[in-house]
Amino acid sequence: MKSSLLVSSFKTIVVFLNLMLLLASAATDNVKQLPGIGNTIVAPALQNWKATLDDQSRKLLSSWVGPDACNNWVGIGCNNKTAIVSINLDGFQLRGTLDHLNFSSLTTLKSFNLSTNQLTGQIPLELGKVTWLESLDLSFNEFNGLIPSTLGNLTRLYYLNLHENTLSGPVPFGLGEGPTGLIELRLSGNHLTGSIPTSFQNFTRLERLHLHKNELTGSILPNLGTPETLVDLRLYYNRLTGSIPISLGNYSKLESLYLHQNQLSELNNLTEKLETLSLGSNKLSGRLPAHVCDRGSLRIFLANNNSFSGAFPSTIRNCSRLSRLRLDDNMLTGNISDAFGVYNDLVYVDLSHNDLYGHVSNNWARCRSLIAIKMSNNNLSGAIPDNLGDSWLQEIDLSSNRLTGEIPTSLGRLTSLIYLFLDNNRLRGSIPREFGKLLNLGSLNLAKNGLTGAIPSEIGGCLRLRILNLSVNYLRDMIPTELMRLTELEVLDLADNGLIGGLPRQFGELKRLETLNISHNNLTGSIPSTFIDLSSLITIDISYNQLEGRVPDIRIFQQAPFKAIDNNKGLCGNITGLSDCILKRKHHKNIQALLILIIVPTLCFLLVAIAGILFFRLSKEKRNEPQESVNRSPFAIWSYDGKMVYETIIEAVENFNSKHIIGFGGSGIVYRAELPTGELVAVKKFNIQEEDELLDVKSFKNEIHALTETRHLNIVKLYGFCSHPRHMFLVYEFIDGGSLRTN
Ligand SMILES: *[C@@H]1O[C@H](CO)[C@@H](O)[C@H](O)[C@H]1NC(C)=O
Ligand SMILES: *[C@@H]1O[C@H](CO)[C@@H](O)[C@H](O)[C@H]1NC(C)=O
Ligand SMILES: *[C@@H]1O[C@H](CO)[C@@H](O)[C@H](O)[C@H]1NC(C)=O
Ligand SMILES: *[C@@H]1O[C@H](CO)[C@@H](O)[C@H](O)[C@H]1NC(C)=O
Ligand SMILES: *[C@@H]1O[C@H](CO)[C@@H](O)[C@H](O)[C@H]1NC(C)=O
Ligand SMILES: *[C@@H]1O[C@H](CO)[C@@H](O)[C@H](O)[C@H]1NC(C)=O
Ligand SMILES: *[C@@H]1O[C@H](CO)[C@@H](O)[C@H](O)[C@H]1NC(C)=O
Ligand SMILES: *[C@@H]1O[C@H](CO)[C@@H](O)[C@H](O)[C@H]1NC(C)=O
Ligand SMILES: *[C@@H]1O[C@H](CO)[C@@H](O)[C@H](O)[C@H]1NC(C)=O
Ligand SMILES: *[C@@H]1O[C@H](CO)[C@@H](O)[C@H](O)[C@H]1NC(C)=O
Ligand SMILES: *[C@@H]1O[C@H](CO)[C@@H](O)[C@H](O)[C@H]1NC(C)=O
Ligand SMILES: *[C@@H]1O[C@H](CO)[C@@H](O)[C@H](O)[C@H]1NC(C)=O
Repeated sequence: MKSSLLVSSFKTIVVFLNLMLLLASAATDNVKQLPGIGNTIVAPALQNWKATLDDQSRKLLSSWVGPDACNNWVGIGCNNKTAIVSINLDGFQLRGTLDHLNFSSLTTLKSFNLSTNQLTGQIPLELGKVTWLESLDLSFNEFNGLIPSTLGNLTRLYYLNLHENTLSGPVPFGLGEGPTGLIELRLSGNHLTGSIPTSFQNFTRLERLHLHKNELTGSILPNLGTPETLVDLRLYYNRLTGSIPISLGNYSKLESLYLHQNQLSELNNLTEKLETLSLGSNKLSGRLPAHVCDRGSLRIFLANNNSFSGAFPSTIRNCSRLSRLRLDDNMLTGNISDAFGVYNDLVYVDLSHNDLYGHVSNNWARCRSLIAIKMSNNNLSGAIPDNLGDSWLQEIDLSSNRLTGEIPTSLGRLTSLIYLFLDNNRLRGSIPREFGKLLNLGSLNLAKNGLTGAIPSEIGGCLRLRILNLSVNYLRDMIPTELMRLTELEVLDLADNGLIGGLPRQFGELKRLETLNISHNNLTGSIPSTFIDLSSLITIDISYNQLEGRVPDIRIFQQAPFKAIDNNKGLCGNITGLSDCILKRKHHKNIQALLILIIVPTLCFLLVAIAGILFFRLSKEKRNEPQESVNRSPFAIWSYDGKMVYETIIEAVENFNSKHIIGFGGSGIVYRAELPTGELVAVKKFNIQEEDELLDVKSFKNEIHALTETRHLNIVKLYGFCSHPRHMFLVYEFIDGGSLRTN
């Protein structure tokens, strides 16, 4: 029964073949020379094969019935309704093997496309009998075993694609002997071993040769393919060794050359009309090809992740069509100050991880198309060119160099900037306020520099910021509350600075925060209870500060190693290594309770002590009647309008501008405030930033403590205190000439 089935299917196949031939070679020729095998042979052969496939595949081929394969069978192409010339079943998800397809019946077949199926098993030797075959595509299947050497008999083949299978063994030598007219040969994405057969020098028309992603060894042949025709040569991800043959320089049409991830040693002149040179991720060593851009045709030059050494070829400077340059991860040396020109088409340049020195040329900013400049991990010195701000850059990475000077404020104009890495340099000065305009900025890393001044509150305007690293600098002042607007923030690293003041209560807004490092600062006050909202936190480090009070009972603190909490002033809580909070709290309970009664959020009050100064002021005003309306003492007003007093104080210290700081206490910062009346007062601003926090009995302890503490210093009288959603401060008498620097 089986054999009769086979016979009938064979007949059908032959009929098909005839039909296909007639159709396919409409442009030409050959039909008459074809063997006159009838459809009666082909159809049964195909049906027999179909029977070996799985259910689903058979359903897809349900049209394969009857004796005539040219009669609307899916995927079957016939020539003149008599000979089958093509089988195109690409992307059918067919499951099975080719073992039971009788190729002897498919002698008229010219095009066989089974790409993107789930066929397994070996590629049958019999395929070599389909002598008219011109195009064979078995890519994206699961064929294993060897590439049949019989494919070398397919002398008419111009397209052979076995890409992405699990074929192993050597590349058959015969492939370069029979089908010398191959135009496209793709054996990539397999496990082929051995060397590239020398017969591959026989190809006369080869345009694309893809042997990448295999395990090929040996060297690259000189005269691989044809210099006049080869356009696209991909040999990357192999284990090729030796040098790149000089002869590749004669390949006048080569546009893409992918040789990376090999172990090739040296490069020679690849010139002529070369447009793309991709050598990335090899183990290439030696110098970059000196004549790489002799003709100025080079557009894409990728030689990243190799071991190239020496200086840049001088031809790079005039390589005016350059659009993409990647030389990162090599051992290149030399002074790059003047090595590069102005390239109108240059989009991307990466020179990172080399030993380059010199300065960052201001030519880069003149490259009108440039969107990414990466030069990290070199020895570049000098300043960051000011004109970078005039470009359209989206990515700047100049980290880990020896850059000096200040960060140009012009960078604040790069509104498309997505990331800016300037970390690990020797930059000085302050962080430009202009950065607040970088609305697309996702990552800002300025760590490990010598930056000074305060963190500009404007940074809070960079609403897309996900990573903010300002660690290891000399930044001072408080953490601006505005940073808490950065709700996309995932990493906030402010460690190792001289930050003072408290943790803004709004910390809880940073719901996406995963990493928080504020260690090694002089932060004071308590940890806001809103930390409970930081549910994404994975790592935290608050060590080496002056923090005190209860550590919120949340997982991140419980799981953190003690050293991430250690070395603070007085943290307590249910965490190994910390003492219990309850004992500590009792002390000032009475005073605390009293204060709670007095304080009403958002209003400022005077203590009894105010009376004295009020008197003084009022009598003074009496003496200077004409000025009264203009120069009214805020203290006089204070008792009537807390809001106004608050505003007057805020104005006097210019919203707690650091220039008014006269000292730091354990729990706050002391400012010198000159009131509109000319009166001088000392204002002690607390780290607690919201009234809710005040009502928390626990945190009062600090204020009272601070209050008594400061009494010992040159601050004499407490005039009053103010509680406001944003600020909580005490107002003292200011002793002129006295040093108010605490500690
Ligand atoms: C198709 O077949 C007819 C007759 O059967 C013949 O006249 C014609 O030339 C053929 N066409 C091709 C393209 O071979
Ligand atoms: C394959 O087809 C050829 C030609 O039609 C035939 O001679 C041969 O017997 C077939 N082989 C099998 C195994 O059916
Ligand atoms: C085979 O089919 C695939 C998928 O449709 C297609 O990309 C490929 O070009 C075809 N091969 C040939 C030689 O036509
Ligand atoms: C070509 O076919 C002949 C006969 O089938 C066979 O002897 C020879 O080995 C084949 N050549 C190759 C390169 O497979
Ligand atoms: C193909 O190349 C091999 C080795 O380079 C050589 O021996 C053979 O003669 C060549 N065949 C043809 C047809 O050029
Ligand atoms: C490059 O081509 C020229 C002219 O065809 C030839 O003389 C020269 O030998 C070739 N160079 C290499 C290295 O093959
Ligand atoms: C290759 O470079 C050498 C010098 O290194 C030069 O003499 C030769 O002409 C160059 N060949 C080509 C094809 O550019
Ligand atoms: C660089 O190449 C090596 C092998 O040469 C590879 O293991 C590594 O992943 C590559 N690195 C990158 C960043 O591509
Ligand atoms: C670059 O071109 C300029 C003018 O075209 C020329 O003077 C200079 O020598 C060239 N530089 C290099 C390194 O080729
Ligand atoms: C690098 O070259 C520039 C100009 O070509 C020069 O001014 C500078 O001193 C050089 N730098 C070093 C470190 O040699
Ligand atoms: C914290 O402040 C003290 C005293 O004001 C100072 O000695 C210390 O260096 C500061 N620490 C940091 C990390 O700024
Ligand atoms: C302290 O924490 C542990 C688990 O971390 C818990 O079992 C215990 O009840 C807590 N004690 C107090 C007083 O909250």
